[in-house]
Amino acid sequence: MDDSWKPVRRLRRLRRNDAIREMAREVRLSQSQLIAPLFVKEGTGSPEPVGSMPGVHRLSIPELVQECLELHRLGIRGVALFPVTPPELKDPYGSEALNPDCLVLRAIRAVKSAVPGLVLFTDVALDPYTSHGHDGLLDSGGSDVENDTTVEVLCRQAVLQAGAGTDFVAPSDMMDGRVGAIRRALDEAGFAKIGILAYSAKFASAFYGPFREAVGSASAAGTRSLDKRGYQLDPANPSQAIEDALLDAAEGADALMVKPAGAYLDILARLRTQTRLPLAAYQVSGEYAQIHAAARAGWLDYRSVRNESLLAIRRAGADWILTYFAKEMAAELVG
Ligand code: PBG
Repeated sequence: MDDSWKPVRRLRRLRRNDAIREMAREVRLSQSQLIAPLFVKEGTGSPEPVGSMPGVHRLSIPELVQECLELHRLGIRGVALFPVTPPELKDPYGSEALNPDCLVLRAIRAVKSAVPGLVLFTDVALDPYTSHGHDGLLDSGGSDVENDTTVEVLCRQAVLQAGAGTDFVAPSDMMDGRVGAIRRALDEAGFAKIGILAYSAKFASAFYGPFREAVGSASAAGTRSLDKRGYQLDPANPSQAIEDALLDAAEGADALMVKPAGAYLDILARLRTQTRLPLAAYQVSGEYAQIHAAARAGWLDYRSVRNESLLAIRRAGADWILTYFAKEMAAELVG
């Protein structure tokens, strides 16, 4: 064979050694882009491990504050708080969400005063508080979540969280019109500075399983698979996901989220071309559990797969990543 086949362009020149590879790297992960989801429980007992999420614990408020101090030292800028409501406080209306001294509000106040520089994100939805585990109020038939009456409760929940000191309310309920309504309610209550991170493209996903164990919303419902298809997106609907996200943007969302992340990178990439708002992606509990399970079985290399999964989410267009790997990633990135 003569030399005529030899290529002029050789991309391997850009992959030749560590130094060149590092200079040619297009996408990077930094701890300031990671948001740590944290589970908070009542009392002062020790951290309770979540069985299906190795390394993740339910923390009492004093432990939560310690954890937040540590995360902040590691360069994490944001945390998302999720309360584990005692079953006796749950009812069909999620009334505890509007208790001015409920767990998440106490947690917000404690973290804000101990670590004022940490950005707090708090879920707006009723599932931690309802005895049926749904994100809103059920209609008289008991099978569907009523949209507009739910939105009214969500607005009050958001205002309470803003009053306690959260920085961003994060409606995760998927009711229609809730972003616009919450924006108005916050503004009217004097919280124009408080942002909205909308869970805009939130799919009815089986990847939320371990989370529901962690917060007890599945056990509240008395079933392992809570059916939220009446409000969360159909995994088969990419166009509807974009439409939902653009509506949230038009209603005043400050940042948009895609959830889950790994199985929905196409949605992230598409949304990236449609908006200039910051995009968040939630690498959810099931994605985390999958990587741990395979690594435990010796089938995948834990650190490489973890890093690759996060890089892929950045590459698809996420500015912020909610991930249960946040702390250990930050510790490694700090070096
Ligand atoms: C509920 C909510 C869920 C998650 C965050 N907020 C679960 C659900 O919709 O049932 C899931 C997060 C995860 O799986 O890590 N409002």
